Amino acid sequence: MTIKLGLINDVQVRFLCPTDLDEVKRLCREWFPIEYPDVWYDEITSSSRFFSLAATLNKSIIGLLVAEVKTKSLCNKEDSGILSFTFNDDTLVAYILSIGVVKVYRRHGIGSLLLDSLLSYLTTPERQNCKAVYLHVLTTNSAAVQFYERKHFSQFRYLPLYYAINGTHKDGFSYVLYINGGEPPWTLAYPFKTPAVHVLFGLGSRKGGRIFLVLLENGRKALARHFSSNLYLFLVYCRYSLG
Ligand SMILES: CC(C)(COP(=O)(O)OP(=O)(O)OC[C@H]1O[C@@H](n2cnc3c(N)ncnc32)[C@H](O)[C@@H]1OP(=O)(O)O)[C@@H](O)C(=O)NCCC(=O)NCCS
Repeated sequence: MTIKLGLINDVQVRFLCPTDLDEVKRLCREWFPIEYPDVWYDEITSSSRFFSLAATLNKSIIGLLVAEVKTKSLCNKEDSGILSFTFNDDTLVAYILSIGVVKVYRRHGIGSLLLDSLLSYLTTPERQNCKAVYLHVLTTNSAAVQFYERKHFSQFRYLPLYYAINGTHKDGFSYVLYINGGEPPWTLAYPFKTPAVHVLFGLGSRKGGRIFLVLLENGRKALARHFSSNLYLFLVYCRYSLG
């Protein structure tokens, strides 16, 4: 059954509080194949360490988002490379621990409302030091994958056997959204992904032309920032790939 909402305006967003504990536990057990320990529920409903939001309709919780803002140095090993090395260890990142919406209310913008609330919080002038938002998702969770891609997250890493669910190991992806000027690390492919090199090699093509226009729009500043490093990395790449 799907409930038609013309009522996204009636949905309210508020922080979770300790009295939500039982409802949150019930919803998470319904949505997620992972069993969280009781202490986790205690913490996400009471600790200021977590940014925990509820979307409510007529005072009932119909959606949840739990995130944590931490320094880059506190990321797990598999996530430690999400930011370019130009960002020091004190740079902040936000990790989405969970997001879910009651089944009958899905595809009505509630997940987006929760995610957008987190992003608004993270992009205020006081939180400009937070450079990326990231999360993990089962590779088989196509609804969530499509949701994150629609919200402009990019797949960062494939994580084989990342999840242990009922004694079985399942693959995961990490997804990242860069905010407040955050940037991914450089790889050998990096020079080919960036505007300066697309312009160098693609001006004559439609794609190159489009990128050039975007560059013009974004201004000389972006070009200047990328150009020297791209050219250098491109030369290094040529040297090693061409022998
Ligand atoms: C992922 C989830 C939170 C999305 O919440 P939602 O309220 O349905 O999301 P929205 O309505 O804001 O969707 C925004 C866009 O995401 C995409 N999207 C969301 N669900 C989708 C689905 N099932 N299939 C395809 N695209 C989907 C669509 O582009 C959608 O826009 P549209 O409806 O205008 O086409 C929800 O599906 C959910 O609770 N899933 C179960 C829990 C879960 O797996 N959480 C993620 C753990 S990592």
